[in-house]
Amino acid sequence: MIIKEVSARIVKDSRGADTIAVSVNGCEEASAPNGKSVGNYETPSYHRSLRWCVDFLNAFCDEIVFEKFEDLIRIEKAICKNADLKNAREFGANSLYAFESAVLKALASETGKELFELLGKNKKIPLPVGNVVGGGMHSASVSHRPNFQEFLVIPRALRFSENLKIMQFVYASVGKKLGASLVNDEGAWLVASEDERVLDILNSVRKEAEKKFASKVGIGIDAACSTLFHDGIYRYNNKILKPDMQLAFFEQIVPNYNLFYVEDAFEQGDFKRFASLNKFAGKNCLIVGDDLIATQYNRLVGAIRTRSINAVIIKPNQNGSLLELARIFDLCRRSRIKTILSHRSGETLDSALADYAVGFGADYIKCGVATPWREVKLNRLVEIEEKTVA
Ligand code: PGA
Ligand code: ZN
Repeated sequence: MIIKEVSARIVKDSRGADTIAVSVNGCEEASAPNGKSVGNYETPSYHRSLRWCVDFLNAFCDEIVFEKFEDLIRIEKAICKNADLKNAREFGANSLYAFESAVLKALASETGKELFELLGKNKKIPLPVGNVVGGGMHSASVSHRPNFQEFLVIPRALRFSENLKIMQFVYASVGKKLGASLVNDEGAWLVASEDERVLDILNSVRKEAEKKFASKVGIGIDAACSTLFHDGIYRYNNKILKPDMQLAFFEQIVPNYNLFYVEDAFEQGDFKRFASLNKFAGKNCLIVGDDLIATQYNRLVGAIRTRSINAVIIKPNQNGSLLELARIFDLCRRSRIKTILSHRSGETLDSALADYAVGFGADYIKCGVATPWREVKLNRLVEIEEKTVA
């Protein structure tokens, strides 16, 4: 394939905020999402501005020969040359990701392949991590909301289609028990409730689901604790905790609620307490770094060295380069770190995340349960499963 035509435009995400969409050779558009609980270490979304990046791409006229995933290096070199940058990620994580994704979509279309097929040999269907109840920064419209940002269900049946049914059952049943009717940015139930009450209800529904579907079902939280941390202290609705008390608190709630997954239990610089929790609970629970790593290779290397995590959130638009994402997946595989490819709270209707999860061989995909922006990704995974699994 030769890249002949690049077109870019500004589109709206699920929250109505601006983001970028790019198309190559007139093929299907690729777009980037937007986060709200944005980590300090994420690659900035745009070089100069969204408008500048859109104009740059619309003027892009290097005719690059592109035949395989690894040829993304040619795209990155051309960006560096034309925009006078040292590293392609300086072009911005949203703009680089959308452009690279659009190039891959064009190659898939022109060669009659599926997007996930372009990505190497590690293909597998991930387990879903579904956001059932929301709190924290994602649910700021409700007073007395839970402190934790996400209450999650992780069904572990063999088939993705079965896992989807389990997630939907848990989502509906928990919503009913909480008397919820409204949803937040990610389609998770909006409620005025204590964290503990939500965890109790989620746990009882988990047990029901395990019986009903004869499958293991885990629950978890994204505590998103960087957003609770101010002036050296974690501030909850009903308590304040110093960092060591925060560690003791998590050492209590992980076994008490049988948590299978805990994301960002500490603020984004505290490798040490992540490591203590990982030592205490990491045998039975995924100790996940999101803001801690911010999809940056060097931070992941640091977390592996300090044994701070046993699982990591990977968000394409926290980094920008799909080549670098491939290196991150590779490092995780070699270091036995579980991978969770993740959406953002402000999503688009692009389903490519599902293909990247399969193509990179992610262990999990976190993309919500309800609303059209999440459902396109889940439905795409069902489609891929039908195409690939006997
Ligand atoms: P964000 O949050 O997409 O708003 O950054 C998601 C998360 O913290 O996992
Ligand atoms: Zn998170």
